[in-house]
Amino acid sequence: MNALAARDARNVRLYKHDAVEVLGHEIAPGTLAEARIWFPDPWHKKRHNKRRIVQPAFVALLASRMAPGGLLHLATDWQPYAEHMLEVMEAAPDWRNALAPGQYADKPDWRIETHFERRGLKLGHGVWDLLYRQAPIK
Ligand SMILES: C[S@@+](CC[C@H](N)C(=O)[O-])C[C@H]1O[C@@H](n2cnc3c(N)ncnc32)[C@H](O)[C@@H]1O
Repeated sequence: MNALAARDARNVRLYKHDAVEVLGHEIAPGTLAEARIWFPDPWHKKRHNKRRIVQPAFVALLASRMAPGGLLHLATDWQPYAEHMLEVMEAAPDWRNALAPGQYADKPDWRIETHFERRGLKLGHGVWDLLYRQAPIK
């Protein structure tokens, strides 16, 4: 936020709120060119997996907010969550894998290394990127 203020950036809107509510109530349908969800909470324990943000209902809501062909970029350092993301996204009727069905992406060079990514790498974790385009079944 300090960097934004220093640059006098006026084309940025920040929300300190639940992203699900922001998507549902603040973002008009069909408007987002891109969405990035990098290193969301993995909820490691099996009984907590249902708290993961990448779930069928959430990615359906997100798809409704995307402009046609909009890009979703997911990244995680937790392999079981990467597998869960792949399963949810491959089954989602409004999303198509941007590479090929069932494929992870290489880390795009425009993705910064985040705080949680660095922490995961120090722990010896791998990193998985996933790229999907909004494309409803006709
Ligand atoms: C593991 S951290 C990753 C943060 C950052 N993306 C990174 O890679 O360093 C996950 C973040 O998502 C936030 N978060 C979890 N659920 C959220 C939600 N429903 N809406 C907005 N933020 C959420 C948490 O508060 C936490 O800051």
